[in-house]
Amino acid sequence: MAKTKKILITGGAGFIGSHVVRLFVTKYPHYHIVNLDLLTYAGNLENLKDVEGSPNYIFIKGDIGDEVLVDDIFAKYQITNVVHLAAESHVDRSIKDPLIFLKTNILGTANLLQTAKKHWANEYEGKLFYHVSTDEVYGSLDMGSEMFTELTPYDPRSPYSASKASSDHLVRSFWHTYHLPVVVSNCSNNYGPNHFPEKLIPLMINNILHKKPLPVYGKGENVRDWLYVEDHARAIDTILHQGKAGETYNIGGHNEWKNIDIVHFICQLMDSKLGKNEGESERLITYVTDRPGHDLRYAIDASKIKNELGWIPKETFETGISKTVDWYLNNKEWLQHVTSGAYQDYYSKMYDHQ
Ligand code: NAD
Ligand code: TYD
Repeated sequence: MAKTKKILITGGAGFIGSHVVRLFVTKYPHYHIVNLDLLTYAGNLENLKDVEGSPNYIFIKGDIGDEVLVDDIFAKYQITNVVHLAAESHVDRSIKDPLIFLKTNILGTANLLQTAKKHWANEYEGKLFYHVSTDEVYGSLDMGSEMFTELTPYDPRSPYSASKASSDHLVRSFWHTYHLPVVVSNCSNNYGPNHFPEKLIPLMINNILHKKPLPVYGKGENVRDWLYVEDHARAIDTILHQGKAGETYNIGGHNEWKNIDIVHFICQLMDSKLGKNEGESERLITYVTDRPGHDLRYAIDASKIKNELGWIPKETFETGISKTVDWYLNNKEWLQHVTSGAYQDYYSKMYDHQ
């Protein structure tokens, strides 16, 4: 019989987490999947409607920083693996209000590490603490061909990336100091279904649908390296099962785009899918004040995960973005609930009264 794992996934109601939960719940019916999520503005159980009744899945509403709760979860479910995604994740919010980023991303991670260390108590066979992180910890690249590798020194420049860098360091410190088996991955920008419409791609899709201005920061020259979210979820699956403790893996799609080119691309794609006149959506493009400290370019060298673990992305940007736009066009109710806040009322109340 296949070996079971009892996996605590944190942040499983968020964008990437919900794709990881779905993949694990459906691919590994013999695993126990516990999803711990605080259901902040970014957490949405509507993302998981299709798996919520699965017998190998349980949702718990709560804070990763809650020492008693996390301790109880480890004891009750005999957790053997942690896949840690819960975080405050939006750079613009971190510029406005950095403290919650430090609390959740640093202290919350520290609490999970401490609890894993206590419960696993040096019995590390079959155990792994997997910390999901970002390429933004490496800082910003010039325009050119240089890429971030696993050996690039850390140089975080926003409160968000500084908080993630700090949590990455903490995770590695538990490996070096206590031999807690950990693994870290640093991934490039994700896009795809269920992406909260505050980030570039879903914001543009939502605003095009509602004929609202498309805000492009600065000159739109900044470059991001985009990966389809299901490819990231598959990479996480690969690393959890084949990754080596103590190692770091960069994840990316070798898919660099200037922001302004992406915005034009989405406008043209949506005009064609919605039967609009050519150029109709592009007229909504509005250049706005640049983000303070805006990182110029991110680019990931993903050769280590390809060569050592055999992972490569399945989607090209063209196929991924087309699927993404179709998903938003077919899930207008999801978008409406998210923009109106209705998604929080129903589910939050349900779990508050448990
Ligand atoms: P998200 O903002 O969509 O989701 C975060 C989830 O964490 C939400 O469901 C939220 O409710 C939950 N959460 C927040 N604070 C919590 C707390 N204190 N306790 C429990 N749950 C809490 O984020 P995402 O885009 O899905 O990113 C997930 C992870 O992947 C993050 O760690 C992020 O740093 C990392 N990452 C994201 C990207 C990207 O492009 N989105 C790229 C690389 C890495
Ligand atoms: P974002 O999706 O917030 O991801 P990150 O900042 O983590 O890379 O932003 C992606 C890029 O798009 C970034 O260079 C900022 C830019 N951007 C805009 O130009 N307009 C917007 O409205 C947003 C949200 C982002």
